[in-house]
Amino acid sequence: MHLLILGGTRFLGRHLADQALAAGHQVTLLHRGHSNPGLFPEAEHLIADRDQSGALASALQGASSSGWDAAIDTSAYFPRQVRLAAELLGDRVGQYQLISSISVYASFEGLAIDESTPRLTVDEAQATAVTGATYGGLKAACEDAAEEGFGERALVVRPGLLVGPWDPTGRFTWWAERFARAAADEEQAEVLAPGHPQGPVQCIDARDAAAWLLHQAEACTSGACNLTGPEEPLSMAEFMATAQRTLAPASRLCWVDEDFLLAQGVAPWSELPVWLPAASSGVHRADIGRALATGLQCRPLAQTLADTAAWAAAEGGGPVQSAGAPPRPAVGLAPAREAALREAWRKR
Ligand SMILES: NC(=O)c1ccc[n+]([C@@H]2O[C@H](COP(=O)([O-])OP(=O)(O)OC[C@H]3O[C@@H](n4cnc5c(N)ncnc54)[C@H](OP(=O)(O)O)[C@@H]3O)[C@@H](O)[C@H]2O)c1
Repeated sequence: MHLLILGGTRFLGRHLADQALAAGHQVTLLHRGHSNPGLFPEAEHLIADRDQSGALASALQGASSSGWDAAIDTSAYFPRQVRLAAELLGDRVGQYQLISSISVYASFEGLAIDESTPRLTVDEAQATAVTGATYGGLKAACEDAAEEGFGERALVVRPGLLVGPWDPTGRFTWWAERFARAAADEEQAEVLAPGHPQGPVQCIDARDAAAWLLHQAEACTSGACNLTGPEEPLSMAEFMATAQRTLAPASRLCWVDEDFLLAQGVAPWSELPVWLPAASSGVHRADIGRALATGLQCRPLAQTLADTAAWAAAEGGGPVQSAGAPPRPAVGLAPAREAALREAWRKR
């Protein structure tokens, strides 16, 4: 196949490009040249800021190829970007994959969200920046623009939490690093385990997500699809036990309940990554039946944890700031705060 990736040099797109090249596909990457310059010398690189007037058009005009079997868009956050892609690529690509997000859903209460669950809406004129409040609605508007522009050739992909090596958010990585510290330092051997042990957890190794995306390019799938894992439901207790077994067998877990954590002002998702209180844990209960039916295979969580810990030890796994993007928030509890919380929990 001949693939165009709008992005491709940071995390999900990086794994995608890596796997596509390893499989012998011809790969064109379009990006600004800011993130990880020098990656993938064997691919064609079109350097453009898709937000600069005329830049996308002239970069695509300069491409060595007149068309691609599929374009995979990892870097669209505004519907105008997707409309422009449709205008310029409409007759040059077989399939267009939009990487959207599970955050498009309007509510996570009730049963497992499937692809027909109502989505957020946004006032495009007002939503001029990507923030926590606008991200989901803007992605939903991007989805509409993809379906309008590419019709049956559009595949809208809604990933849940993407994890693994090269994750620029530092979220899941924090847990891998936390258990690595528990193994290395007896003073940090007790790990705060948040919330309900039986609460759900979903996440997908970006390498498994990339393999599935490539498969969909070959199969020319269309429509919308949630994309997360694992294949079988996972609880917070299993998540923590797997991390413990894989990275710090001698560590101890200190379960602290969610009301206490919330009363102490602990921020779910960011200060304690992955963890969500019961009221919003529907984010971790998405229906992935369609992804499984179209070939999704998830590697064991233990492998993702081990690889993430090894990558973070070698490269540093904290949040990476990207040029032109809003600053990434810090993630994870500092050791002293975590110790103080465990102490306060015991004395309550
Ligand atoms: N992380 C999660 O848990 C999660 C969950 C759900 C959905 N998602 C979605 O997954 C997608 C994947 O993101 P990723 O970072 O992993 O993808 P990626 O393709 O590895 O990295 C983003 C790429 O976009 C390029 N880029 C950024 N701004 C650009 C611009 N204005 N013009 C041209 N290129 C630009 C970057 O290169 P330069 O910086 O060099 O331009 C980089 O190559 C995103 O759409 C995100 O919303 C993520």
